[in-house]
Amino acid sequence: MELISSVAITILGSIALFLLLKWKNLHRPPCIKGWIPWIGAAFEFGKAPLEFIEKARIKYGPVFTVFAMGNRLTFVTEEEGINVFLKSPKLNFELAVQNTVYRTASIPKNVFFTLHEKLNIVVKGKIGTVNLYQFPGQVTEELHEQLKNLGTHGTTDLNELIRHLLYPVTVNMLFRKGFFPTNRTKVKEFHQHFRAYDESFEYGSQMPGCLLRDWSKSKKWLLTLFERNIPDIKTYKSTKDNSMTLFQAVMDTVEKETHERHCSSYGLMLLWASLSNAVPVAFWTLAFILSHPSIHKAIMEGLASVFGTAGKDKIKVSEDELNKLLLVKWCVLETIRLRAPGVITRKVIKPIKILNYVIPPGDLLMLSPFWLHRNPKYFPEPELFKPERWKEANLEKYSFLDSFMAFGSGKFQCPGRWFALLEIQICIILLLYKYDCTLLDPLPKQSSLHLVGVPQPEGRCRIEYRQRM
Ligand code: HEM
Repeated sequence: MELISSVAITILGSIALFLLLKWKNLHRPPCIKGWIPWIGAAFEFGKAPLEFIEKARIKYGPVFTVFAMGNRLTFVTEEEGINVFLKSPKLNFELAVQNTVYRTASIPKNVFFTLHEKLNIVVKGKIGTVNLYQFPGQVTEELHEQLKNLGTHGTTDLNELIRHLLYPVTVNMLFRKGFFPTNRTKVKEFHQHFRAYDESFEYGSQMPGCLLRDWSKSKKWLLTLFERNIPDIKTYKSTKDNSMTLFQAVMDTVEKETHERHCSSYGLMLLWASLSNAVPVAFWTLAFILSHPSIHKAIMEGLASVFGTAGKDKIKVSEDELNKLLLVKWCVLETIRLRAPGVITRKVIKPIKILNYVIPPGDLLMLSPFWLHRNPKYFPEPELFKPERWKEANLEKYSFLDSFMAFGSGKFQCPGRWFALLEIQICIILLLYKYDCTLLDPLPKQSSLHLVGVPQPEGRCRIEYRQRM
């Protein structure tokens, strides 16, 4: 008798468990699991993640999960999911990015959690809209300096050209004037290591460093560069106004809280954040302008009306002039719309209902600005480069078009966005004003290899430039 009842209890228990699991799974979004335990669908997903997301959306609907490398990545692609992503208090930014921060910059979890909010406020204060007026003069000055290295004419890869302008300008502005090397060999080394670090950043954020030897070497090189220069950066005083650079302000906070440790790690994080997206955006903007002759012509007319006939003068660009050259700003924004980061992410901390699904805690909720910006519901004729669509945005009040998500959203959306726009606009203005530029190759395709950040071009895109008289 006893045996029968214990068998019955086991069977009933198993049925109940089976039904519970089935019920739970019924309420979870469809999951693409692959067939290898833990690795899941990582191989198929990793080959071309941007395309994978779009194909999965068509096949599985607006909410679906990809299981890869032990993580459940749940993608949301339509209104309901997007609204949850933007507003739900059951999501957390810090928990979503902490592992990446640890692997890529060696910032321990406890330090990251203690400092994140404070540093976010410091960065917003230093390069947010209130202090933006300080930058046009300095950025223009730095860019004129770097443009001298171009000589009077030449043919080169456009991406290389932009890197040679914006790496030093950004580093000298945000870290310390003169921090960027000037010696040719050192410059080459910096480019080599930063590019290696940036190109494999996404892999570095998911795998132990020992599996990515070259990437780890470049990360070490960059950390050492900071370590060696921290004392100099600390004591540097601007000759102009005595104000601290962004990195000096960040270091100030890091030192107070961690007794002088981790400054180099934060330096590396800030270096990556300030270069990895802004530089490819400047490249794409110029490539789009030069491959649209009517837009190129309209910009040149605008430049002539503000600065006089284009030539080799050392023009000054202030906020006033930038506001008169709205077409340039629209071109930068339209470029960012078309070359937006593949995903932004948040960690689910409590069960969340989206449509008929329940997303469990522990999932990473993913939203793709890249695909959102290609939805004709939000952006008609989404594949076309149409800067004039930005007429509708209230840029004077610092607001973008609805559904534009390239800088993320909410409290932790990109604090460098206004600085990035300003720097890219000035770069485009000075290049086009001082040089007659022609693209020698068609606009390249974007690489679909990465999900993090602005996509890089696939293949070369050469430019011929000639200094104006
Ligand atoms: C066009 C260029 C840029 C793009 C497209 C871009 C995009 C983004 C995105 C998508 C995020 C994540 C936001 C989220 O998940 O809600 C982010 C964060 C961040 N960005 Fe940018 N960014 C750009 C330029 C810059 C620049 C020039 C800086 C300069 C310092 C910068 C500093 C940061 C920092 C510090 C964070 C982390 C914020 C935090 O953890 O609180 N970004 N950016």
